[in-house]
Amino acid sequence: MAAEAKHFKYVILGGGVAAGYAAREFGSQGVKPGELAIISKEPVAPYERPALSKGYLFPQNAARLPGFHTCVGTGGDRLLPQWYSHKGIELILSTEIVKADLASKTLTTAAGATFTYDTLLIATGSSVIKLTDFGVQGAESNNILYLRDIADADKLVAAMQAKKDGKAVVVGGGYIGLELGAALKINNFDVTMVYPEPWCMPRLFTAGIAHFYEGYYASKGIKIVKGTVASGFDADANGDVTAVKLKDGRVLEADIVIVGVGGRPLTGLFKGQVDEEKGGLKTDAFFETSVAGVYAIGDVAAFPMKLYNEQRRVEHVDHARKSAEQAVKAIKAKESGESVAEYDYLPYFYSRSFDVAWQFYGDNVGDDVLFGDNDPASAKPKFGSYWVKDGKVVGVFLEGGSAEENQAIAKVARAQPPVADVEALKKEGLEFAAKV
Ligand code: FDA
Ligand code: NAD
Repeated sequence: MAAEAKHFKYVILGGGVAAGYAAREFGSQGVKPGELAIISKEPVAPYERPALSKGYLFPQNAARLPGFHTCVGTGGDRLLPQWYSHKGIELILSTEIVKADLASKTLTTAAGATFTYDTLLIATGSSVIKLTDFGVQGAESNNILYLRDIADADKLVAAMQAKKDGKAVVVGGGYIGLELGAALKINNFDVTMVYPEPWCMPRLFTAGIAHFYEGYYASKGIKIVKGTVASGFDADANGDVTAVKLKDGRVLEADIVIVGVGGRPLTGLFKGQVDEEKGGLKTDAFFETSVAGVYAIGDVAAFPMKLYNEQRRVEHVDHARKSAEQAVKAIKAKESGESVAEYDYLPYFYSRSFDVAWQFYGDNVGDDVLFGDNDPASAKPKFGSYWVKDGKVVGVFLEGGSAEENQAIAKVARAQPPVADVEALKKEGLEFAAKV
């Protein structure tokens, strides 16, 4: 006979960033022992995922757990496993849910155990797109690596040790590509990056922004091959990758290959059970889905972006944290017959590598206006871009900003000040933001 389902008032499915911030909010709103469980296929308590492509890969003084459990990423307390047990929050780790039946409010694990809930928060995040998904020849060879979780990061660290001072090829010119290209270089690898587009990070960067980072990476000794993709891999008798074959006919030697060709929100468990939009689970401004009592937060949520009057999905950590807090506040308010304000999110993305760091706020639509010094050879490069749409500034990017300057550009993106003269805006540069 099957064992009886274990019941919780609240279940958070997934144990990543959103889960950690949701648990903290439950903790501060008041949760009784035994009411809340986090079910995660990862073996560790929620942590700040951005550390994996940065501090975790440092050659010296590398970040390791428990150093970066949530919620240290925003200067908050580090929630160690003891915090969860002290609060009576059950951490059900190394446990993958393979079936979710929203009608009977039942989750089933790979081992056949079941959990029921009154309220579910879906926080399953994203999975990586793999080259094996497209049947790229040889893509299953050893040392062709991806990065999403701690297990992936540990594999990469082990490969860097095994192939010390070797050759690395980075496939993809997005966030993972740029951060991992730098991490491999810092670890003394001979790095080549390959991506299909005319410049890196085209989903955010303009040609002028990319000009700086491509030049800067080149000055660090990173080679960049643009306008082509990896079409196959060679391996030795042990199955270890030895070369990347490019579609344009070139062949790059490789001891390690890192692939960052995008993510996919993990929504498969809920297909046909809940409304979807933009590849995610459609929610209202409180992160409740089309099924009452089922919430979606973080990467999987397609929520109303009030500022732009549009349903959107965001794959960045700031939104994972804030959506989690909003959902828990809304759940608790509803229980006491109260309400919370609608989510009113200002998009915020950032990245850092080597000794450069940028921040972006708002929307990168309309005409872009580059300002400042984007010469990669400058001793102290500082530049940015405004995006102007319908006569208003709607987005701002800044490389090398101070805390105050970054606050100023965030304020601009939120306030959307009018711009009469684009040429004057270009000349004024950061001064414009300082005045808003
Ligand atoms: P997240 O991926 O954090 O957590 C999902 C959790 O659900 C995981 O624990 C997963 O194992 C679990 N899960 C999924 N399916 C399950 C199932 N069926 N059963 C049980 N558990 C399941 N963003 C940014 O703004 N700045 C940055 O610098 C970075 N850096 C960065 C580096 C790296 C390496 C990655 C991969 C991502 C980033 N990001 C980022 C993006 C950011 O980390 C991401 O948007 C958030 O982690 C999303 O939080 P979620 O909680 O939605 O998913
Ligand atoms: P991404 O969408 O940022 O970049 C994917 C890149 O893959 C594209 O820019 C393109 O250059 C490239 N590409 C697509 N198909 C290709 C092919 N066949 N061959 C070679 N290149 C190809 O995705 P990612 O960099 O893989 O990041 C994965 C997830 O992790 C995203 O959700 C991202 O937001 C998140 N992340 C965020 C940060 C950050 O915010 N700082 C850092 C790391 C990861």
